[in-house]
Amino acid sequence: MRQIAAILIYFVFFTSLLNGQERKKHDIPLSYSNISYDKDGRLFIEVSGTKIYEERSKPFISIESISGQPEGTDEGIFFDFSSPEFEGTMYYGFIPYGDSKHPHPVYFRSAAKIINGRAFIEIAKTLSGRYDMVNWEENKKGTIGYRVVNDRGRFLYDGIISFKGKGPFRVVPTIIEGPFINLLSHRDVTISFTTNKSTRPWIEVNGRKFRGSRGTKHEISIDGLDPATDYSYSINYADNSQSYNFQTAPLPGSGTSFTFAYASDSRSGNGGGERDIYGANFYIMKKIMALAQYNDVSFFQFTGDLVNGYQQWAEHINLEYANWKRAVQPFGAYFPIYVGMGNHEALMRVFSTKDRWNISIDRFPFETQSSEAVFNENFVMPQNGPDSEDGAYYDPSENSIDFPSYKENVFYYTYDNVAMVVLNSDYFYAPSTNMIRFSSGGLHGYIMNRQLEWFKETILKLEANTDIDHIFVTQHTPCFPNGGHVQDDMWYNGNNDYRPYVSGAPLEKGIIERRDELLDIMVNKSSKVVAILTGDEHNYARTEVSPEMERYPDIYLPEKIELTRTIYQINNGAAGAPYYAQEETPWTPWVSGFTTQNALVLFHVNGKDIEMEVLNPDTLEEVDRLKIR
Ligand SMILES: [Fe+2]
Repeated sequence: MRQIAAILIYFVFFTSLLNGQERKKHDIPLSYSNISYDKDGRLFIEVSGTKIYEERSKPFISIESISGQPEGTDEGIFFDFSSPEFEGTMYYGFIPYGDSKHPHPVYFRSAAKIINGRAFIEIAKTLSGRYDMVNWEENKKGTIGYRVVNDRGRFLYDGIISFKGKGPFRVVPTIIEGPFINLLSHRDVTISFTTNKSTRPWIEVNGRKFRGSRGTKHEISIDGLDPATDYSYSINYADNSQSYNFQTAPLPGSGTSFTFAYASDSRSGNGGGERDIYGANFYIMKKIMALAQYNDVSFFQFTGDLVNGYQQWAEHINLEYANWKRAVQPFGAYFPIYVGMGNHEALMRVFSTKDRWNISIDRFPFETQSSEAVFNENFVMPQNGPDSEDGAYYDPSENSIDFPSYKENVFYYTYDNVAMVVLNSDYFYAPSTNMIRFSSGGLHGYIMNRQLEWFKETILKLEANTDIDHIFVTQHTPCFPNGGHVQDDMWYNGNNDYRPYVSGAPLEKGIIERRDELLDIMVNKSSKVVAILTGDEHNYARTEVSPEMERYPDIYLPEKIELTRTIYQINNGAAGAPYYAQEETPWTPWVSGFTTQNALVLFHVNGKDIEMEVLNPDTLEEVDRLKIR
């Protein structure tokens, strides 16, 4: 007994030590500068003789804690939020799988109180009889959706839990995230989902069974499919099953007609309620997805600022991603949603003093704790991008990995005759822009050298591919900001001095020169690039990037480039984040359709033709329409 107590004390002590302040010293990437550990193992950055220490913080919320770690009892399900101070309300209701295409909880007439960090859902007497809408009394199983709200009315998490029995009740393997259709081509697809408990699921498609491996995170590849064909699939896990369907892509270059959707910036908005479910604008995201589904989209591209982010702990941003995924999941079970990174996907180390300093950089170790690594963990995206910035002329060492990975945050994919190239303009991102010269780090809006090289090679490859007629490029930050980010993105009020630093040295090319290199590839080196799809600014606006467009500040010494043809910049950061008003820029005469309404951009592709249609997902009114090709 004494031994068990000793082990328990040791365990509590050890985990609190780990949580309180990371004691483990990680190697400081050589790409950073002026950062070291003191003799007690605390990380600091030295700026003009001042030591600025890393903030002492610890994670205070996680998916695990806010899910209440449900357990079955004789009468229902018990939740423990592992914090006695936590009070609030829990709304709940059965999820009637199979009753509609997009299963959602049907909330019960009363809610459970969260008192002293605990809550209870009474099933046996309360959710029975006329309230047994899922027939659990007969089947001896069911699934409940529950929504955790704190005592100030702020929504924090939407959970799902499946149970077995008629009382006593037992909690069983439950799909708590997904399923999502990923990596869809004309012959295969990957279906991903997460379960609360370790299980070995299998998926049935067309009478064939595809087994996953035992665990909680599942990615199951389905191959041997025919092009342009509807398939229904069922996911079988423990005693339960869910069924959905998908359609494979047409043969590459078929020239069929199809629609795809574009949006970005769905982090929490103002106005309360579902506009802010811990990090995500759940309300608008759900409406956007429903409207996309209604328009029968083949895929959805969503480029950055999914969630509030700017977090110091993976536990926090993982919860934000979980809420975003919950909003889109009922639709993501049918078509692929491709995501890219924005500045808000930032996971950081923050160095600060109370009075003056605040320096934040991409979190390291890069392999496990960078913004890029955690984004990769949360989504299943193509892996055909560059490796990292290692190997660039500014790489500090050939023998070490000194930069975060581009894996699953820079990539391209194709659908019929369309290619989409997804860039990361917030890579290795150091949010404290004016401090980059001390800490080093990536600049908001900048495409670093290795990524640019990969981009050029990819565009040339797609130019040579006869199946591809149209190329879309997407990155979070506009080349031409119009409202909200004129002071940064690829403009910085016309100041080309801004650029990333590596190992204490600035990169050779400034932000406007880099914008021009990007434009040169898209416009002059390509005949197929139709548009660059951007966000960051919380508006919809279309900018005609034409040879005549003014795009330099009054005084600009670096080389200027000519453009040989016109492409469009379609900005749609109107998926729910707070709004910005339009500002005056040299290219304002080339901008039209600017609006702060929420917007969903649809591209209707029909062989060589493309029509763009922009709809307000809240009111369903038309915002803009253009024959773009
Ligand atoms: Fe942004």
